[in-house]
Amino acid sequence: MNILIINGPNLNLLGVREKSVYGDTSFEAYLEQLRSRYPNIAFSYYQSNVEGEIINKLHEVGFSYDGIVMNAGAYTHTSIAIADAIAAINTPVVEVHISNVYKREEYRQTSLMAKNCKGVIAGFGMESYRLAVESFV
Ligand code: DQA
Repeated sequence: MNILIINGPNLNLLGVREKSVYGDTSFEAYLEQLRSRYPNIAFSYYQSNVEGEIINKLHEVGFSYDGIVMNAGAYTHTSIAIADAIAAINTPVVEVHISNVYKREEYRQTSLMAKNCKGVIAGFGMESYRLAVESFV
């Protein structure tokens, strides 16, 4: 099984950025844990701070991979273009958030992409990614 994990803007700074909200683990370290826990899954990882690059990646893998786990960061709340890209591809996407966005500012409580996703997982720290992977196995 092929799964691509996409992290959007500012998530390259996981482990450094606002540790009280996002924790102190880098995504690379967490990915190692995921790879050893699911040896039969081929994980790819892509991070970009650029909306169009995320869309290009969705187009590139979205007709061949088994699943996409995506934390689109703040683009979740703003990007009609990413929402449209999810609707355009065949691969199911699970939307992920590290923090519980429903406990935070009102502008984080709207996801433009959720209706095009298989499901949404939010609020379990880095484990949100693993729970999303689990939905594909
Ligand atoms: C986030 C929540 C978003 O509102 C925020 O812009 C992020 C991270 C999360 O993982 O909790 O960058 O997607």
